[in-house]
Amino acid sequence: MAISVLVNGAKGKMGTMTVNAVKADPELVLVGETDRDDDLVAAIKATKAQVVVDFTMASTGYANFLKIIEGGAHPVMGTSGFKKEQVAELKALCQKSGIGGLIAPNFAIGAVLMMRFAKEAAQYLPYVEIIESHHEKKMDAPSGTAVRTAEMIAETRQAFGLQPPAEKENAEVARGELFSNVRVHSVRMPGYVANQRVVFGGTGQTLVIEHNSLDRESFRAGVILATKKIAGKKELFYGLEELL
Ligand SMILES: NC(=O)c1ccc[n+]([C@@H]2O[C@H](COP(=O)([O-])OP(=O)(O)OC[C@H]3O[C@@H](n4cnc5c(N)ncnc54)[C@H](O)[C@@H]3O)[C@@H](O)[C@H]2O)c1
Repeated sequence: MAISVLVNGAKGKMGTMTVNAVKADPELVLVGETDRDDDLVAAIKATKAQVVVDFTMASTGYANFLKIIEGGAHPVMGTSGFKKEQVAELKALCQKSGIGGLIAPNFAIGAVLMMRFAKEAAQYLPYVEIIESHHEKKMDAPSGTAVRTAEMIAETRQAFGLQPPAEKENAEVARGELFSNVRVHSVRMPGYVANQRVVFGGTGQTLVIEHNSLDRESFRAGVILATKKIAGKKELFYGLEELL
């Protein structure tokens, strides 16, 4: 039987892509499209949506997640901006309610691999900085992908007892912001969709791991795969890689 899907943020760039992708997939059926002024819980109940794909705004992602669980559907959150504490809290909520969900900072398979390779490189190269570049309309900074990459690098450092190199600069210089002890620099300008470079350094060498989303279609396969996979799950997954 086809999985019923509601898209929240359906009028936006990612929402529009998702609506089209769901409509084109024979295993999915689009039962609803909601946006800013709609009652999400009521829409889920009225349409009996099994999965809600949410591409809205960082400021509303957490509240939307709660509404989707309240409506009884599985959240697939593409929206960025989830904080570590919120993810932990929502993991507990999913466990308690027995409704599986996904928070995916990036649905592009290449970006998932970039994060995985960065996690591995952190074991060998002590210096690392992230430069993420997005289109000028992206409202939040840094990107969820950059934050998650920094977290994954920190996980490696913790697992291997590694410390980030000590810095001598004073706080006034332009050195980006620290996330999980990794410096992140955000660029916003026309021309980019989503680009991230993770620059590692060791003695006499640098290693750059770069992913470039040239088109929003790069996220399509990941969104569809997650929508299909989440329906049978009972826990919260953080990152598409956890669900793959
Ligand atoms: N995970 C990924 O792979 C990925 C990829 C691209 C973008 N994103 C993220 O997805 C989100 C959306 O990006 P976009 O480029 O489509 O933005 P957008 O501005 O084009 O679209 C956002 C849509 O959400 C709607 N909206 C805002 N608040 C809402 C609410 N409370 N309830 C329902 N709808 C609401 C807006 O009206 C708009 O139609 C952003 O957080 C962005 O960072 C994630």
